[in-house]
Amino acid sequence: MTTCVASSVDVALLGCGNVGAAFARLAARTPEHSTAIRIAGALVRDLARPRPGAVAGRMTTDPRALLDDAPSVVVELLGGVEPARTILLEALARRIPVVTANKTLLSRCGRELREASAASRTPLLYEAAVVAGVPFLGTFARRPYTATVSSLVGIVNGTSNFVLGRCGSGGTSLARAVAEAQRLGYAEPDPRNDLAGIDASEKLAVLLQHFAARFVNPDALETNGIESVEGIQLEHAAELGGGIKPVVHAGWTNALEAFAAPAFVPAAHPLARVDGVDNAILMTTAHGRLLLQGPGAGPEATAATVLDDVREIAAGWAGVHDATVSPCTVAAPETEWLITLRGTRLAAARDVADLLASFGVFTHRATAIGASDGHQSRSWLAWPCARPRVELALSALRNASGCEALALRALEVPA
Ligand SMILES: NC(=O)c1ccc[n+]([C@@H]2O[C@H](COP(=O)([O-])OP(=O)(O)OC[C@H]3O[C@@H](n4cnc5c(N)ncnc54)[C@H](OP(=O)(O)O)[C@@H]3O)[C@@H](O)[C@H]2O)c1
Repeated sequence: MTTCVASSVDVALLGCGNVGAAFARLAARTPEHSTAIRIAGALVRDLARPRPGAVAGRMTTDPRALLDDAPSVVVELLGGVEPARTILLEALARRIPVVTANKTLLSRCGRELREASAASRTPLLYEAAVVAGVPFLGTFARRPYTATVSSLVGIVNGTSNFVLGRCGSGGTSLARAVAEAQRLGYAEPDPRNDLAGIDASEKLAVLLQHFAARFVNPDALETNGIESVEGIQLEHAAELGGGIKPVVHAGWTNALEAFAAPAFVPAAHPLARVDGVDNAILMTTAHGRLLLQGPGAGPEATAATVLDDVREIAAGWAGVHDATVSPCTVAAPETEWLITLRGTRLAAARDVADLLASFGVFTHRATAIGASDGHQSRSWLAWPCARPRVELALSALRNASGCEALALRALEVPA
């Protein structure tokens, strides 16, 4: 294993944007009694961009020049797959330890990077890639017997959680809630990856590598974003005693089953109380359930977690994760469902329930009929079943009633 117990650490910083600049500021404030973290140089795209006081070292657009200086650690805060992938593979081949916060890169190239790390016995740390403000991946990696995880359910995208919360409680439109999130710095100028569920499915893929030793391309995961959630579903969810949250879910006791999508969360579920931009992960271990909750992102929290990874490497605590991740197919699980019907005139509740039952979708609770803008609407909770059954049943409902039929997954309260 490559370690670098040292009094000062030279960092090659790849990226000096929101997180990279916060990292540089934080590193400059390293307390005198501890290992000095020095930014030897930083890779950027645009050398002309003003970056007041961000980095004392030199700025460059040439990654090779940074690696040729033989830094103690490479910190990758570029985002995306390339050029990050090529530079990190080169760093690992040169036995330079790597810290990254890049879930896109890890979710898509994590297998290759882990193999490169194992082959060169060089640490690859990525604590800030998922729920950056709650450092737990490293702890679990060092506690494999305590942390034998068999399933997880969580909220890993704070932007979506904030936006859905505003739409639900304040009746605000999605567009207004997104604008508010952007004003408060909770959403990026281009929030498409958050709203479409892509950010969540990439983080889920990283969690599956870490906890299940399975490599699944995020594109293979059932992924839906909060942009598909209708106001009427939020209203009916509240009437059914819950809310709608942007959820990731995975279980691998047998075959791997997973999804990333907005889901009905009953009030008694631990995730129901995770509000605002907070993130949370509820994990089932061999010894019971663990709930971790806290800030998911933000440049300062992310930079602090990245800096801790660097300090771990500097202190020689960071090992190489030997566990290989195997490519794996993923199935969509059977879950409960929230089914909503909306139209000018709804069919009788019994007829709807009978039609759903004829497709193997059995309802167990319903809202009253709601009315607004000349439309009636009603929602049902259905017992667990597979998505294809629900889709067939919804298609039959639309044909038979002429109404709009919507479905969201629903979580059950853990036993
Ligand atoms: N923001 C958060 O709260 C947060 C939380 C957890 C994880 N992360 C992860 O942290 C990483 C960085 O996020 P960020 O918000 O700091 O991104 P950002 O503000 O867009 O910064 C990206 C930086 O990388 C540089 N860069 C991008 N592509 C480059 C290229 N091809 N060549 C050279 N330099 C390039 C940019 O250079 P220029 O400045 O010249 O454009 C910029 O300095 C991402 O992987 C993100 O997912 C972010």
